[in-house]
Amino acid sequence: MPATKKVALAFSGGLDTTVCVPLLKEKYGFDEVIGVTVDVGQPEAEFAEARETANALGVEHFVVDAREEFAELCLESVTANAIYQGYPLGTALARPVIAEAILDVALEEDCNALAHGCTGKGNDQLRFEAVWRDSPLDVIAPVRELGLTREWENEYAAEQGLPVEGGSEGRYSIDSNLWSRSIEGSELEDPSTIPEDDIYEWTDNPGGVESELVEITFENGTPAAVDGEALGPVELIEGLNALAGAHGVGRTDMMEDRMLGLKVRENYEHPAATVLLTAHEALEGLVLTREQREFKQQVDQQWAWKAYQGLIDAPLMKALEGFVDATQERVTGTVTVKLEGGHCRAVARESEFAVYSESAASFDEGTVTGSITQEDATGVAKYHGFQSRLANSKVSPDADDAETESTETPEKPH
Ligand code: ARG
Repeated sequence: MPATKKVALAFSGGLDTTVCVPLLKEKYGFDEVIGVTVDVGQPEAEFAEARETANALGVEHFVVDAREEFAELCLESVTANAIYQGYPLGTALARPVIAEAILDVALEEDCNALAHGCTGKGNDQLRFEAVWRDSPLDVIAPVRELGLTREWENEYAAEQGLPVEGGSEGRYSIDSNLWSRSIEGSELEDPSTIPEDDIYEWTDNPGGVESELVEITFENGTPAAVDGEALGPVELIEGLNALAGAHGVGRTDMMEDRMLGLKVRENYEHPAATVLLTAHEALEGLVLTREQREFKQQVDQQWAWKAYQGLIDAPLMKALEGFVDATQERVTGTVTVKLEGGHCRAVARESEFAVYSESAASFDEGTVTGSITQEDATGVAKYHGFQSRLANSKVSPDADDAETESTETPEKPH
C-alpha cells in the first residue's frame, strides 16, 4: 500500500486557495491537504477568514508567526533605499519569508509536496518557487497548471458548495502586510481610471490634520527609535504606519513592470516605508561622500530588483549587501521629517559622522579649511571646463555649413 500523499498549501482562505483544496485531491491525487497561513502583519480578519474556511473544508490549518523576521527584512531594505519603480516592495519582501515558513511546516508534517494558488501571470509564483524548488518536495501550482480563471473558480466553488462567499476581499484583490498594502483589480486595472477614495485603508485623505514633526534615529543605517523612543522592528513600523497614515503619507499610484514583462497598474499604501526611506536617504546625504552616494544608487537599484524578484538569497545580493553594510557604518544619527498634506520631507539631520564642516561651507569665514584659502580656487577655476572649451573651438564633424568651418588653430585656452 503506497504511503499517504500529503501536500502543504499556502492558504489564505480566498477563492484561489479554497478551490485548490478539492482540486489537489481530485486532480493531483493527494490524500491530505494542510493549509499554512504565515503572519507577516496582515489584518486580523484575514486569519479569521483562513481559519473558518479551513475548518469548513476539513483542512488542518497552521498559522506561523513570521512578523519579527519580516519586519527585520523590511528595515534591512531601508539600508538599501529599496524601491522598485516607486514601490517599496512589501509583497515582494514577504514572499521568501512566507515560502520558507511553509516549507518548514511541510517538512515537519512529512508532506511530499508544496502548493500555491498563484496564477501564471504574476510575480508571486516565481518568488514562491524560487525558494521551494531548492527543496526535495514537489511543487504544484493548480491555478496555473489547470489554466483556471476567476469565473471558472466561482462556478466550481458554487457547484462544490465551497465556503467562499462573504470573503473580506470585496471587489479588489488586496495584499496587505506590515510594509505595504496593495490594491489591484476591478476598475483599477484600467490605468485611465481615477481610484475612489475608499480603496485606501491605511491613509486618510491629506489635509485633515495639522502638520507634524517626527524624529527618526538610525543606528548603522537601521531605524532604531521614533521621537527618542527605542522600538523593536514590528512596533516601529506599525507605529509609523498609523502616525504617517493620518497625514495621507505613502500613497503610490503607478505602472509596474512585472517580471514576465506585463505592465500593470498598481495602487499601494506604505506610510512607514515612506517615512523611513525618506529619512534614511536624508541621513546618507549628510554622512556619505558624493561618490559613495552616486555608486550606492546603482547598488540600491540592483538590490531592489533582486528583492522584487524574490531572490534575496542570490549571491549577487550578498555582494551588494557587503557594499551596503560598509557604507552604513556611518549612517548613525537622527533625521526629523515633516508630515504635511500627504507629503513627508526631511527638515533636519544630525550625525557625529557628518561629512560637513560649518566653517568650510560658511560664507562668513576667511579661511576655507585648514590652510586652504579662497585664492587657492583660482587655479582650479582656470582649469575647470578647459576640455570643453577646447572641444567646442573645433568644428563639429557633421557641420555641413562651410562658412562655419574654421581651419585656424584655436587660441591657447586661458
Ligand atoms: N505587484 C506587486 C508585487 O508583485 C504586489 C502584488 C500584490 N497582490 C495583490 N493581489 N494585490 O510585488
